[in-house]
Amino acid sequence: MTDLIFYHDDIYKGSLILVNRDYPLVQSKKPELRPAVDSFSNIPMEINAANILSLLLDAVNSENAIIPVSGYRTPEEQSRIYNHSLNENGAEFTDRYVALPYHSEHHTGLAIDLAMKQDHIDFIRPYFPYEGICNDFRKLAPLYGFIERYPLGKENITGIAHEPWHFRYVGFPHSKLISERGISLEEYIEDLRSYSYGGKHLYYKHHNQVIEIFYICLSNVYSTKISIRENTLYQVSGNNVDGVIITIWRKSNE
Ligand code: DAL
Ligand code: ZN
Repeated sequence: MTDLIFYHDDIYKGSLILVNRDYPLVQSKKPELRPAVDSFSNIPMEINAANILSLLLDAVNSENAIIPVSGYRTPEEQSRIYNHSLNENGAEFTDRYVALPYHSEHHTGLAIDLAMKQDHIDFIRPYFPYEGICNDFRKLAPLYGFIERYPLGKENITGIAHEPWHFRYVGFPHSKLISERGISLEEYIEDLRSYSYGGKHLYYKHHNQVIEIFYICLSNVYSTKISIRENTLYQVSGNNVDGVIITIWRKSNE
């Protein structure tokens, strides 16, 4: 067996962190970045999410029919966008479509706004329709770890209006579980609390693999140790609320 130790700070990093109106970005370390798309060097994204985005765009033969509009943003950039929108569009619109600085998941580098290529691109509400190549992208996204983050009907939960253009990397199979269940990231993070370490875990079958998912609460502890089988592929992400989510991959016959 191998021991894994988790510290309180692990709550605030990883691809599943929830950044919204209630939970601001805590981690101050800037993510490692690269251009979201090679030909758009001014739109950075977290390196791993960008690498997977490029596979996903290739899979739908985008060839720049889909273009990135906004990726990683510093809190200062978010502040400028927020204030500009307040002046241009007013408070009600801005509240619905622009997160406050530190409350935008664009700070994580894991979010990307996409547009169908057109002469005019709206920066705050890019056009990304539910048809053609944009919808091919949307349908395939969960297989690659991306979700449409602000779905129609979940506005009261996400605190943000329906945004067909904003995608968030959360990693597979979380993306698939979220999209299959038709839930928001907020609801998924909440649901995972019922799969606590030592209790019932969540299992997801994928080809000849079984993916095991569980949650560890770290809110009142400095560190926690768990044991898993040696030579097992595992991933760890904080939820940015109070704990970490562990994802373990193994062959179904193991
Ligand atoms: N448009 C999203 C909510 C943001 O500003 O982060
Ligand atoms: Zn966005």
